[in-house]
Amino acid sequence: MMDYPVNMDLKPEVEAFFGEPTNTISYIVKDPSSEACAIIDSVMDLDYAAGRITHDSADRIIARIKERGLKLEWIIETHVHADHLSAAPYLQQELGGKIGVGEGIMIVQETFGKIFNEGTEFQRDGSQFDALFKDGDTYMIGNLQAFAMFTPGHTPACMVHVIGDATFTGDTLFMPDGGSARADFPGGNAAVLYDSIMKVLALPDMMRLFMCHDYGPNGREIQWETTVAEEKANNIHVGGGKTKEDFVKFRTERDAQLSMPKLIIPSLQVNMRAGEVPRDKDGKQMLKVPVNGL
Ligand SMILES: [Fe+2]
Repeated sequence: MMDYPVNMDLKPEVEAFFGEPTNTISYIVKDPSSEACAIIDSVMDLDYAAGRITHDSADRIIARIKERGLKLEWIIETHVHADHLSAAPYLQQELGGKIGVGEGIMIVQETFGKIFNEGTEFQRDGSQFDALFKDGDTYMIGNLQAFAMFTPGHTPACMVHVIGDATFTGDTLFMPDGGSARADFPGGNAAVLYDSIMKVLALPDMMRLFMCHDYGPNGREIQWETTVAEEKANNIHVGGGKTKEDFVKFRTERDAQLSMPKLIIPSLQVNMRAGEVPRDKDGKQMLKVPVNGL
């Protein structure tokens, strides 16, 4: 395993924003020694039936950043989400900051560029983003050093972000009673996901873990924070000594029964463009539905 620059002495302030329609948790992560902050996994609101986009979720975060007098340096996407739209361009326009994603985005753009029959104007080189992270790449939020850890499996572009003693898991891991995310999207792989989860669980036991999603299994209230020790002991898919073979068998059988996320078609088209809504030849914002394409 590569040597990551873990520093448990750095303790960023983490503020969570739960978005009920898609069960997504977005975060503001603040450097304790300055006013610098980052946003992890923002949400743009979509009423798909009406084709209507609004920004109430992002506006809540913007208002909070302004109220606290913070300076936004990074807008991080842990991966190309398939269940909600990113608000990254809207946040950047309002507050500045750089949009970063894993360099695996190029594979995602290649795959879905074909599925959505995009023309040559759709760049497949990740150039819609300001930064493309490789495994172990570091970046600064004020004086706080963060790094990206390559964790493919759910998608080929997934990165977990480690910021001091706080780790943002994206969809690599859910709360202990939620288990793990599906691995059957194009470019996904259950065995690869297992290995990625083991990388996350090799972080220090007291590492705080922050989820991107929670669905409140068995009627419990929504939660988003746990620790490496908790996940190792209790995660229903990978904890308590479950083997890779157990995981792959379970994950593959479960995934075969899952229906597509409600917003997968608009989400992919927008998120593979760093959150920009595609435009037709007249410049109008327009989404496609590839029939039997997914
Ligand atoms: Fe996802």
